[in-house]
Amino acid sequence: MLGPETERLVGHLSPLGWSRRECERLAPLTLRIRALARERQAVILGHSYMTPEVQFGVADHRGDSLGLSTIARDTDARVIVFCGVRFMGETAKVISPDRTVLLPAPEAGCSLSESITGDDVRRLREQHPQAAFVCYVNTSAEVKAECDVVCTSANALAVVEGVPQEEVVFLPDRFMARNLQALTRKRVIGYSGRCIVHETFDPRTLLDWKARHPSMKVLVHTESPEEVVRLADLAGGTGDMVRYVRDSDAQEFMLVTECGLADRLRAEFPGKRFLGTCVLCPHMKRVNLRNVLQVLESPRPDQVVEVPEEVATRARRAIDRMFEITARKTDVARPHSGSGEASPRCE
Ligand code: 13P
Ligand code: SF4
Repeated sequence: MLGPETERLVGHLSPLGWSRRECERLAPLTLRIRALARERQAVILGHSYMTPEVQFGVADHRGDSLGLSTIARDTDARVIVFCGVRFMGETAKVISPDRTVLLPAPEAGCSLSESITGDDVRRLREQHPQAAFVCYVNTSAEVKAECDVVCTSANALAVVEGVPQEEVVFLPDRFMARNLQALTRKRVIGYSGRCIVHETFDPRTLLDWKARHPSMKVLVHTESPEEVVRLADLAGGTGDMVRYVRDSDAQEFMLVTECGLADRLRAEFPGKRFLGTCVLCPHMKRVNLRNVLQVLESPRPDQVVEVPEEVATRARRAIDRMFEITARKTDVARPHSGSGEASPRCE
């Protein structure tokens, strides 16, 4: 068994520079985790910002927050192990309340999610009684419960366009709100949240790389400042970036986002080149194979995601509304946009 597992790992990880020796050392652990997951009837979901050993070593599905939420909603598995940050596990629990949802690293937060509380939304509602309240999926269940509809980076514009109101309070990412305002005639009112990864990107770095690699395509996550987004060949979420790379004839890309996505794409598209800088998310990087194994063996109480029923019911309504609107609004114009992405089993 170890031989085939090593070969499988070599197939995925050698484009990232992993040696056969390193894959051999990893194989007993990935085999053990995958066997335990089968025994527990667990599906392992890995966000594209996870390390390569999580994404390619053990995840059944790797993808963006929308794609993984859809899998969490539709899975037959008894247990969902969410290799991602806390809000992702909470979202999975809200939409799949009958499943056990486990977080290998429950302390993994998100600067956006932590920037706003339910009380803040209630206060804003008093200030903007006519507006639709759209919140980014990077929020707590408590915040989702106070909003009309949720969105992800893959469908934010479709959701803003899809609500009947002309005024939209978009929470909590200030840059994403400004980037949306540039694409819609509706009035978008933002908030003060920022992603500690994407706020650091600087237009001068992009201009410098573009000058040195004129045929390179620049793909920017919409959590980035607008002067960075303006320089992009594609502005969108991680799923949009995966589809762009897959469908493009270009050979060189700069991914203006967290480093895990570049690792994923180097492994999946070994013939293409990924240049430039990326930034690590310290929250995402808290997940590793040791805590994935431990959570499957004997989860601690804090690793089992619970959302109070009253909060979950209201948050579910806002998430279901997102699925309804995006099923309806498939024709919203946005260059290279998509409606969610997740890859099939890694084998
Ligand atoms: P996606 O919605 O593009 O997966 O991004 C999630 C996230 O945390 C981005 O920083
Ligand atoms: Fe949150 Fe930014 Fe990390 Fe994504 S990359 S989880 S938005 S802090």
